Amino acid sequence: MLAACTSSSLVLLDALTLKRAPTSIGPDSIRSLKSPTAVTWSQDNSYLFVAQADGIHKFEPAGHHAGLVHETTHPITTIATRDKGNSILFNNETEISVFETQSGTIIQRFTSHKTNITSLSLSNDTTLLASTSLNTVLIHNLTMASHTVLRGLPSGDITTCVFHDPHSHPTSYWNWEPIGYL
Ligand SMILES: *[C@@H]1O[C@H](CO)[C@@H](O)[C@H](O)[C@H]1NC(C)=O
Ligand SMILES: *[C@@H]1O[C@H](CO)[C@@H](O)[C@H](O)[C@H]1NC(C)=O
Ligand SMILES: *[C@@H]1O[C@H](CO)[C@@H](O)[C@H](O)[C@H]1NC(C)=O
Ligand SMILES: *[C@@H]1O[C@H](CO)[C@@H](O)[C@H](O)[C@H]1NC(C)=O
Repeated sequence: MLAACTSSSLVLLDALTLKRAPTSIGPDSIRSLKSPTAVTWSQDNSYLFVAQADGIHKFEPAGHHAGLVHETTHPITTIATRDKGNSILFNNETEISVFETQSGTIIQRFTSHKTNITSLSLSNDTTLLASTSLNTVLIHNLTMASHTVLRGLPSGDITTCVFHDPHSHPTSYWNWEPIGYL
């Protein structure tokens, strides 16, 4: 299932529809939403979480709205989840919050970025969180609530980063070789 957001809607498309490369999308696949800004599936694919102007909303895969799980008016631009969506990680500007849906509280907050956060990525075992801003990549150890700064990157603005788990796709082992600019 692919979830795509526009400034006023959420579109959910299943793999079969995507394969057919449709030229138009039927109304059944489209929900009106107020300014979605970030979106992520729970790791077990059971829920979709969408950040909007009023907070983080939860949806079932078929598009049914399952509630506003966290209310905040701070603009959220990145979102990630762990523990089947029971724990939601998101940013507002320079801060990262870890929100627990069961207790309804923010259990951890990371405030080390100096400029707006541009991406968040959880390692497959969900113990590490990588976050980027224009000048910095931070690797957070969520168990210890500690972090390290990734040093030695080539100069230039940092745009994004994402974890890869080599074990979940055994056929996709490959060796990365720096080959310069393509
Ligand atoms: C940081 O994010 C806030 C909220 O999205 C935005 O208003 C502000 O312009 C951003 N700052 C920079 C330097 O991009
Ligand atoms: C982020 O949100 C928290 C409350 O959820 C607020 O205390 C904090 O000031 C916000 N930070 C920014 C940079 O907007
Ligand atoms: C997180 O920190 C703890 C304590 O230092 C360490 O045992 C653990 O291996 C770290 N996790 C990762 C994924 O590096
Ligand atoms: C990656 O995460 C999935 C889902 O939690 C799990 O089934 C799988 O075993 C994990 N892989 C590794 C290498 O930890």
